[in-house]
Amino acid sequence: FYPSTKQDAKLLKVATDPTFIPFEIQTASGKLEGFDIDLMNAIAQVAEFKVDFENLPFDGMISALQAKRVDAAISGITITPQRLKTIAFSRPYFKAGLAIAVRQDNQNIRDFNSLQGKKIAVQIGSTGADFVKTIPNAKISTFNSGPEFFQDLLNGNVDAVVSDAFATLYAIKNGKLKGIKVVADLLTEEYYGIATPKDSPHLETINKALAALLSNGTYKQIYQKWFDA
Ligand code: ARG
Repeated sequence: FYPSTKQDAKLLKVATDPTFIPFEIQTASGKLEGFDIDLMNAIAQVAEFKVDFENLPFDGMISALQAKRVDAAISGITITPQRLKTIAFSRPYFKAGLAIAVRQDNQNIRDFNSLQGKKIAVQIGSTGADFVKTIPNAKISTFNSGPEFFQDLLNGNVDAVVSDAFATLYAIKNGKLKGIKVVADLLTEEYYGIATPKDSPHLETINKALAALLSNGTYKQIYQKWFDA
């Protein structure tokens, strides 16, 4: 029997879809960056495990967790009752919500009702994709990643995008999304959690580490690094 040491710290495979600025993005040289990446690395440091990030399309993340091909996923994933049927989530770590984005010159889409019968782009498998199913007569286009559905909006192929407000506002503010504006209020109130397989032995570790980062100021530092600049 050998007691575990830091040297042979556990290696956790963590899935992410790095097309979601500023939560997870990949630089030209392939480096992962973002709020979620910093948070996961900080959790690993506190809990003394190592992280091996694996890029996965957002739409494949839940099945990868269910099949235990990965130990966890961090990707701005909203905790929903539907998802809780098949996977588990950590305590919430970020308050979020959906919003409508349109081209800057659009004047007629300003709320849920004005989306009726409109062409709308969403990310496959996202809460935005679920939400737009409730809009009467909407024509939905689905895309694998954020850059693609915003491109479709800029091209004029669709009238609106429904996606996570915080991420969209951040991209607009930082000049990454020219010609697009966010309209109206949040359509939903959502909370992001770190996802794991249902009976994961790591969930409690992750939750304890999250609690420590929230109380020792590290969470705040990471938040300020990405959002208060
Ligand atoms: N919060 C939304 C959801 O859970 C979208 C998250 C998209 N994240 C990403 N990395 N592409 O469905």
